[in-house]
Amino acid sequence: MSKNLLKVAVVGATGYAGCELIKILLRHPETEITSISAKVDRPEPISNIFPVFKGQIDLVCGELDIRAASKAADLIFLALPHKVSMEFAPKFLESGKKVIDLSADYRLSSVSEYEAWYGTKHTSAELLSSSVYGLPELYRKEIVKAKLLANPGCYPTASILGCAPLVEKSLVETDRIIIDAKSGVTGAGRTPSMGLHFPEANENLKAYKINQHQHMPEINQELSKLAGSKVGVTFTPHLVPMNRGILSTIYFTLKKEMETVEAIRIYKDFYKAEPFIRVLDENIFPETKNVYGTNFCDIGIKVTDKRAIVVTAIDNLWKGAASQAVQNMNIMQGYKETLGIL
Ligand SMILES: NC(=O)c1ccc[n+]([C@@H]2O[C@H](COP(=O)([O-])OP(=O)(O)OC[C@H]3O[C@@H](n4cnc5c(N)ncnc54)[C@H](OP(=O)(O)O)[C@@H]3O)[C@@H](O)[C@H]2O)c1
Repeated sequence: MSKNLLKVAVVGATGYAGCELIKILLRHPETEITSISAKVDRPEPISNIFPVFKGQIDLVCGELDIRAASKAADLIFLALPHKVSMEFAPKFLESGKKVIDLSADYRLSSVSEYEAWYGTKHTSAELLSSSVYGLPELYRKEIVKAKLLANPGCYPTASILGCAPLVEKSLVETDRIIIDAKSGVTGAGRTPSMGLHFPEANENLKAYKINQHQHMPEINQELSKLAGSKVGVTFTPHLVPMNRGILSTIYFTLKKEMETVEAIRIYKDFYKAEPFIRVLDENIFPETKNVYGTNFCDIGIKVTDKRAIVVTAIDNLWKGAASQAVQNMNIMQGYKETLGIL
């Protein structure tokens, strides 16, 4: 008898996150991809769009047809830009499907924050109170019951995981957290633009959107929940001439002096049950190469007197997007959390 696989749809399959999702889901022992779609001029086999899939999957990627995708699949991954996801998520939910949204549309609980940062009206704000923020290390219990899961952003994943132990334990001045984050170019998606053009991005390093990046409210929202009071971080993102990876260096002012080994012990203890968090030993620091194509977040820590410096590394397309979405799917479906991603 054939195994009863979970039928899944990938919407936004021609994007970077969609492509990585397909790669992971093809190897996942509990899933069958039954629908692939995007915004395409004419339907085409996905293996023509991404030749890496030749001989692996023969589905055609066409324009999204909500009714057909709902009929074909029980769980829908929306790997769509923000503003686009909220057009479709309510319709899939109405037809009884679970939705994992990789965009920012359901991550912020405040409608006014969303509308201010994303410059658009939220067209399904009523869903914000029931959407679950999909950072398993903090919300595993809620994720189990989620129907609409808001997969975290890549910078927020790297930042929140690096801050959570010290903030939750009230060990730091929460108005003095500085996050200096660096991302590879795929973080901006596959749509070409001048700043992402190879000769512009290559051999160059630049800061952008200093203290006005749209991921800031998401980081502040989650750190405020952990702290039990309003947190406002200083956030400087950088574009780095590499394809994948985020390295986030976070500076804290501690309330009391501490030794590095003590801080490492706090992080190891906080994440002791987490299969995808690797807290490194003293004087070892994360590198993006070590997490490339993995769902790991590596964390390194150095403390000098009252200054704590925490460095995190993730793959923006995996732990920052696609594999974290599959980690969430595993939890929502009651599968082993590491299935297909470890
Ligand atoms: N890249 C990352 O590192 C990363 C990390 C975390 C979260 N995310 C989030 O994940 C989502 C996808 O990111 P990405 O980097 O994969 O973006 P991307 O490369 O730009 O891909 C976007 C996908 O959405 C499709 N699309 C756009 N408008 C559509 C519409 N109206 N109807 C149907 N399909 C439409 C695109 O199709 P066409 O190709 O035909 O336009 C493409 O397949 C975004 O919300 C992003 O913020 C990305």
